[in-house]
Amino acid sequence: MEEITNVMEYEEIARRKLPKMVFDYYASGAEDQWTLKENRYAFSRILFRPRILIDVSKIDTTTSVLGFKISMPIMIAPTAMQKMAHPEGEYATARAASAAGTIMTLSSWATSSVEEVASTGPGIRFFQLYMCKDRNVVAQLVRRAERAGFKAIALTVDTPRLGRREADIKNRFTLPPFLTLKNFEGLDLGKMDKADDSGLASYVAGQIDRTLSWKDVKWLQTITSLPILVKGVLTAEDARLAIQNGAAGIIVSNHGARQLDYVPATIMALEEVVKAAQGRVPVFLDGGVRRGTDVFKALALGASGIFIGRPVVFSLAAEGEAGIRKVLQMLRDEFELTMALNGCRSLREITRNHIVTDWDLPR
Ligand code: FNR
Repeated sequence: MEEITNVMEYEEIARRKLPKMVFDYYASGAEDQWTLKENRYAFSRILFRPRILIDVSKIDTTTSVLGFKISMPIMIAPTAMQKMAHPEGEYATARAASAAGTIMTLSSWATSSVEEVASTGPGIRFFQLYMCKDRNVVAQLVRRAERAGFKAIALTVDTPRLGRREADIKNRFTLPPFLTLKNFEGLDLGKMDKADDSGLASYVAGQIDRTLSWKDVKWLQTITSLPILVKGVLTAEDARLAIQNGAAGIIVSNHGARQLDYVPATIMALEEVVKAAQGRVPVFLDGGVRRGTDVFKALALGASGIFIGRPVVFSLAAEGEAGIRKVLQMLRDEFELTMALNGCRSLREITRNHIVTDWDLPR
């Protein structure tokens, strides 16, 4: 096989390897998929203003997130049901993240439990939470994550209902019967029934609490001492509310363009949120990050780090743990090179002046 030289190449390999229902679930966005394209395209409207003749013989990509030291500002976003991609699923992701010295976020809808992921060995891990209607289930799950050594809760706030993903409707998407949503094993939330449309959409309609509001963010703080990241913020207004309601950090995310179509690319929403946060909490970004240059651009606009979603499931499908390791390595190498060519030796040296966006320019 020809050598893989960038993260995006894994998508085509995954397409060839996976059943259509699975690939489409991983790849799709909502409705017209305008935001899906925009998440990528918006990065191309940001250009560099590199500084020259700076000694870049030593580059330090390390950073710290919520007090945890990691090798680079590139982390793994929660993506559901990874055993559909590869039999090792979330185990492979956990090991690859740990080997790269970075953070993995485990989805509530993982096909491996919090305990199983913890059993893969040491590593810094966050747990992504979907708020179920039954708060006892939520409280139990959060306690299990805490006991299993997870370091933060990423509360997903953009999914009171599932976005309309038409491929999943056409394919009658459902979790294959040999897999379970392991965090809910034994409860009637562990299996996904086949539905007339998307099995996941029906699952969400049945199990996920549409009443979720800021008071629940407060409630969550009464049941756990873990820091809470609010995942799915796209406006300054909500950034301020998140901080007022006790968030330890904000993730600017449009759920990989799978929820509301025609929201802006996350990289375009980032700066507004960063300004509203005023440095009180760290702001992270996910959505469309495929290159080290994208990582640099996000940091220049004020992000403390980024998360990747699809590159993980596609590389997992293609090559298992080795694939994810390669993705993390390629992004890290590209990011380091981007830093060097911009004249930045540490993350602290990356500034807003290193980029110009087309929305900065006079119209
Ligand atoms: C997701 N995402 C997601 N988010 C979440 O909070 N809980 C979840 O279970 C999932 N599951 C999931 C599955 C798949 C297949 C995808 C593609 C995405 C959203 C995810 O955390 C992240 O926001 C996006 O994936 C980031 O965009 P990119 O990197 O995929 O472009």
